[in-house]
Amino acid sequence: MSGFDRRTFLTVLAAAGAGAGIGVPLLSGIAGSSSTGTVLRSQLALPEPFTVPFTVPPVLAPTGDRYEIVQRAATAEILPGVPTPIWGYNGIFPGPTIVSRSGDPAVVHHRNALPVPVVAHLHGGHTPASSDGYPTDLIVPAGAMPTMPTMPGMPGMPTLADPRATVTVGERTYTYPLRQRAATLWYHDHRMGFTGASVWRGLAGFHLVHDDEEDALPLPRGDRDLPLMIADRAFAADGSLRYPSVDPTLQRTPGVSTAYSGGVLGDVILVNGRPWPLAPVPAVRHRLRILNASNARRYSLALDPPPPGGGGLVQIGSDGGLLDRPRVHDAIEVAPAERFDVVADFGRYPVGSKVTLVNRFGSGSTAVVMRFHVTRRERDDTRVPATLSTIEQLDPTHAVATRTLLFQDHGGAMGWQINGHPFSPGYATATPRLGSIEVWRLISDFHHPIHLHLVHFQVLGRGLSGPGAYDAGWKDTLDLRPAEEAAIVARFDDYAGRFVFHCHNLEHEDMAMMANFQTA
Ligand code: C2O
Ligand code: CU
Ligand code: CU
Repeated sequence: MSGFDRRTFLTVLAAAGAGAGIGVPLLSGIAGSSSTGTVLRSQLALPEPFTVPFTVPPVLAPTGDRYEIVQRAATAEILPGVPTPIWGYNGIFPGPTIVSRSGDPAVVHHRNALPVPVVAHLHGGHTPASSDGYPTDLIVPAGAMPTMPTMPGMPGMPTLADPRATVTVGERTYTYPLRQRAATLWYHDHRMGFTGASVWRGLAGFHLVHDDEEDALPLPRGDRDLPLMIADRAFAADGSLRYPSVDPTLQRTPGVSTAYSGGVLGDVILVNGRPWPLAPVPAVRHRLRILNASNARRYSLALDPPPPGGGGLVQIGSDGGLLDRPRVHDAIEVAPAERFDVVADFGRYPVGSKVTLVNRFGSGSTAVVMRFHVTRRERDDTRVPATLSTIEQLDPTHAVATRTLLFQDHGGAMGWQINGHPFSPGYATATPRLGSIEVWRLISDFHHPIHLHLVHFQVLGRGLSGPGAYDAGWKDTLDLRPAEEAAIVARFDDYAGRFVFHCHNLEHEDMAMMANFQTA
């Protein structure tokens, strides 16, 4: 259903009697099958898949006791021989990987050398509000005036100033306590109204957290522990990245043109900023830290051919770190912003095998992601233990509140709404008491990957069923599918303040599918 237009989809839903999207059964054949969005085509010749070498982003060395990042425009060679203007953390896409230890605070100083305001957010971080990258806590370009952010240019809406915004000029220091488990986190831009366009231009990077528990396990590490940032993009004839912004200056009017308001899907699949790369690997277990950094595209990832007997992707971790025990999958479905840590054992293939990571939700150029070429035997002392970690099961009967959140399209420029409201910095949809457990019922019309800041949660169930096959462990993003209702449970701990939760389809997010919760 890639390329399926949102309006058409709405018609289908209405025809199925599911227009309200509340309490309706899953639409089989639609739910779980693809993405909400429209494909933007590239306008130049694309390279043959599996010809560009796979690389991993460089690890950032600290400067003294902090990390220094300059957000700046740069030129990247993403397609061979084609210069592409990007915005990058330290001028590269993906940005440099920050590697931290659980409990050791990471201090990251961002300098903004871009022509627009920026906000840096550590996705999956258990972070105090002051460093969480609230969408109006802007770093404006040096030389700009620190004026109060308003919700810009929304037709028919009053201008909303955010009196609690903290605007800094030129630079800002974020402090991440990282009192959390080992996990694959990522950082990306989070400016109100313009996150989709800014991430599309390149503002995304990995932030990995390690801890003693994970280090003690015999899992693949070093150059057998590969982060894979998967993102789709489209290119214009001149090599620039295509994106259908209403305001190409990314200064005033947020959002994308109507045809793409369901989400922007590209026709080039990048892994760590390279199109359909080729990775030579020894015939041993590898840990693949899969991150879907796409704006709107969902993937069903599998190894092709599958290893003998199947079960090619052994999931060991989720958004919030290790699972209690491994889950064996033939394929995994990954919505935007979700992470799946899997172990793939290339020792199950003969040397010389070409193993393709395919996308069963894709077609044509988007049906393949990257390829592994099994080049040689090597010693492998790793294994996937039957027990990985201990996970405290949150007890929903201890919940002090149950909240219902509707994620629905109401049409128009701010049409993606939560409980019938477009995003407003001034309004708290939920007010959890610090330390308390709450159950949130999330109800959707289309695909909406729902992300909560501050907390990790557990999935209690979908519809009348239990958690889905991809819902295990601690999550910070839930792949909510069309006309679906899911229940999650979370404990709102440690940090008082204002945080957002939102749809992580970045076009939906920019067009107002975001809301606040206020912990106290
Ligand atoms: Cu990945 Cu609110 O962000
Ligand atoms: Cu986040
Ligand atoms: Cu959405």
